[in-house]
Amino acid sequence: MKALVLAGGSGTRLRPFSYSMPKQLIPVANRPVLDYVLGTIVDLGVTEVGVIVGDRADEIRQALGDGSRLGARLTYIRQEAPLGLAHAVVIARDFLGDEDFVMYLGDNMLPDGIAPIAAEFAEHRPAAHVAVYKVPDPRAFGVAELGPGGEVLRLVEKPQAPRSDLALMGVYFFTAAVHEAVRSIGPSTRGELEITDALQWLVSAGAHVRAGRYEGYWKDTGNVEDLLDCNRHVLHGLRPRVDGGVDAASTLVGPVVVERGARVAGSRIEGPAIIGEGTVVQDSHIGPHTSIGRACTVVDSRLEHSIALDGASVTGVRGLRSSVIGRSASVGTSGQSADRYRLVVGDHTRVEVAA
Ligand code: DAU
Repeated sequence: MKALVLAGGSGTRLRPFSYSMPKQLIPVANRPVLDYVLGTIVDLGVTEVGVIVGDRADEIRQALGDGSRLGARLTYIRQEAPLGLAHAVVIARDFLGDEDFVMYLGDNMLPDGIAPIAAEFAEHRPAAHVAVYKVPDPRAFGVAELGPGGEVLRLVEKPQAPRSDLALMGVYFFTAAVHEAVRSIGPSTRGELEITDALQWLVSAGAHVRAGRYEGYWKDTGNVEDLLDCNRHVLHGLRPRVDGGVDAASTLVGPVVVERGARVAGSRIEGPAIIGEGTVVQDSHIGPHTSIGRACTVVDSRLEHSIALDGASVTGVRGLRSSVIGRSASVGTSGQSADRYRLVVGDHTRVEVAA
């Protein structure tokens, strides 16, 4: 079996972060989402992985290299524009050959792994096997209607009036039967070759397409709220470790990781939390559910349920919650009176101040 990881696309919902980095490299507990994706695939025993990349190809190559760090062999496949998930399968035809493969969307986090999905596919070996998840509002997803035995009856991409609450997750197992399907469909109203349409094509052609309900934790990290929730979930599995310096005036409570070269002084770190390599935390209270990236500075501040990316600095701000602070961004006080704010805010940025 091979794997196809989709790491192209535009990531508009994760603006402004996706302006300067591919959304698949956004860190969760200080590791890029794609690290987890590849780890999950390698855990299945699949090591031959095609990675679909778009405009951000260079950054993704730089982060993943040849994959050996993660136990995988990567083949990068360039997609000239985000023409759809099924288009990615079309351009990966030579890499995939006639082998079965798992297609995995590069912004999907399934920290509990996908072994149960792989086992269901292996047991029935249908033309395609998808994983579905019950969600309160399925309109942002592909939606599946299932028969009593788990067979897929109908699939629709992002329907206005969903006929089921089962969302398609970003993990699909295929046999070579999918290649005819992706060649046979046309673009959707949003101009993409939809994998949902290719699956529906298989169903309509009488092929066996099955779905299994996934019971573990799943998030598409495509928006900030889900990213923070995912960070919180992954941090819960953190094994405490202090490789950096923590002075006598500081307290660490619960599972805390302090990476090499980080310095914590006069501060309280409430786990689960992670302080990245080379970061300085001084006279601050961090956590719970917070990850601070590499080479950050946090002074005189209070930060909880948040993510700071590499190089960020926070000074003198005591009430940060559910925040994501971008790379080398700085948040601080203006020195002006209490009801004045000075903001230099980039495109598509969101700032919320006390009412
Ligand atoms: O997350 C689950 C959902 O993923 C499913 O329920 C939907 O049926 C499926 O269409 C997909 O919807 P999204 O709107 O979330 O897909 P998105 O455009 O975010 O793309 C998913 C990943 O694939 C992302 O890492 C970017 C990458 N991608 C996307 C496109 C359109 C590519 O590599 N190439 C592309 O052409």
